[in-house]
Amino acid sequence: QDTHAWSGRFSEPVSELVKKYTASVGFDYRLAPFDIDGSLAHAAMLHRAGVLSDDDLSAIRRGMAEILDDIRAGRFEWRLDLEDVHMNIERRLTDKIGDAGKRLHTGRSRNDQVATDIRLWLRDQIDLIGGLVGELQTALLDLAEQHAETAMPGFTHLQVAQPVTFGHHLLAYVEMLARDAERLADCRKRVNRLPLGAAALAGTTYPIDRHYTAELLGFDDVCQNSLDAVSDRDFAIEFCAAASLVMTHLSRLSEELVLWMSPSVGFIDIADRFCTGSSIMPQKKNPDVPELVRGKSGRVSGHLVGLLMLMKSQPLAYNKDNQEDKEPLFDTADTLVDTLRIYADMMRGITVKPAAMRRAVLQGFATATDLADYLVKKGLPFRDSHEVVARAVRHAEQRGVDLADLPLADLQSFSPLVAEDIYAVLTPEGSLAQRDHVGGTAPNQVRAQIARWRSR
Ligand code: ARG
Repeated sequence: QDTHAWSGRFSEPVSELVKKYTASVGFDYRLAPFDIDGSLAHAAMLHRAGVLSDDDLSAIRRGMAEILDDIRAGRFEWRLDLEDVHMNIERRLTDKIGDAGKRLHTGRSRNDQVATDIRLWLRDQIDLIGGLVGELQTALLDLAEQHAETAMPGFTHLQVAQPVTFGHHLLAYVEMLARDAERLADCRKRVNRLPLGAAALAGTTYPIDRHYTAELLGFDDVCQNSLDAVSDRDFAIEFCAAASLVMTHLSRLSEELVLWMSPSVGFIDIADRFCTGSSIMPQKKNPDVPELVRGKSGRVSGHLVGLLMLMKSQPLAYNKDNQEDKEPLFDTADTLVDTLRIYADMMRGITVKPAAMRRAVLQGFATATDLADYLVKKGLPFRDSHEVVARAVRHAEQRGVDLADLPLADLQSFSPLVAEDIYAVLTPEGSLAQRDHVGGTAPNQVRAQIARWRSR
């Protein structure tokens, strides 16, 4: 019994091994609802163009509704010998409604069909992910709001640099995520164009109305070149690039969470429900979730590179290589969705330890730059001031105290410009309060940024 749509051309059936090797239904079955939407729009367009009769269209609608019900209820039996989601659904439709089912594929190819399905699916995922990015931003803003004044050391080279507020530090990630959301929204514009009508590669001889199909499916426009329409996967690559950046940002934050939770740093604690213990060391509480996010970021970037490699040598137009686009794309979206969900939850389960942050900011001479700026404001050129402060730091280091703990006479021995008001500048709070301009770490500015984000 011939099961394939093209078997008249062949003298022997494909081998079992080849069947398994070429089938995609094991993963592309998840495109089913989008495949059905695409088919219904295509059928409605063919009907309007006079290619399908009233009876054919209503039979197709009825059959597809039943098929969708069966799929949702888990009753649909996916057949490997029917290769992919498209032919499984089409065969079932024909079993149900007869010739009308066989007419559905008029003026269409699986090449433009699959390209349409992926775009519909990805558009949906982008909208979901956009919302999740927003939720994570909100969780970060909530935490930042509680810590608009909490001083911690800011680092460069992982060495103590200058005091920053913890709120300011968190807001840096809100910025990154905002760019991520912009990138996803931009990518969506190019996802949201209709390939249907390109057919196999050259277009079709039927009087089709692609703009009508596009309108029915909510596409902004149609792909303007049939060869490009069936072979373009730029949109998938762009999505994976945007996803890789989201994951890269979360990987950086994860690295910080792991560091901050290490007992020798002790800036934060992560709620138990995001951590695991050790099977041998009874004292352990490991930050597994941030570690896994860091690990999974590599996997998503790997998918980006995988898709670039998939596309780089393909001649026009459609090649079977393209079937390999789905697993990396699906896994990218799934990983991103799960990661964003868990992350927003985890940020709400973080306990901040301001006392430990304050202890750390008082070590490492975080306010040395403030002393230098103070002297500059009293007339000393910055390079000279830098040298004066370097000597004062060495002196304090030898005595094992912070700059703010040096007696006035000691500080004055390095520069006669130092007066009693220096101590207001040398505390973490003094240092923070002075950085009071757009983008600065002063508590005022942190609160203003939070208000700006909230109003968006
Ligand atoms: N399963 C195929 C894919 O994912 C559908 C398109 C097949 N087209 C073809 N000419 N073999 O790309």
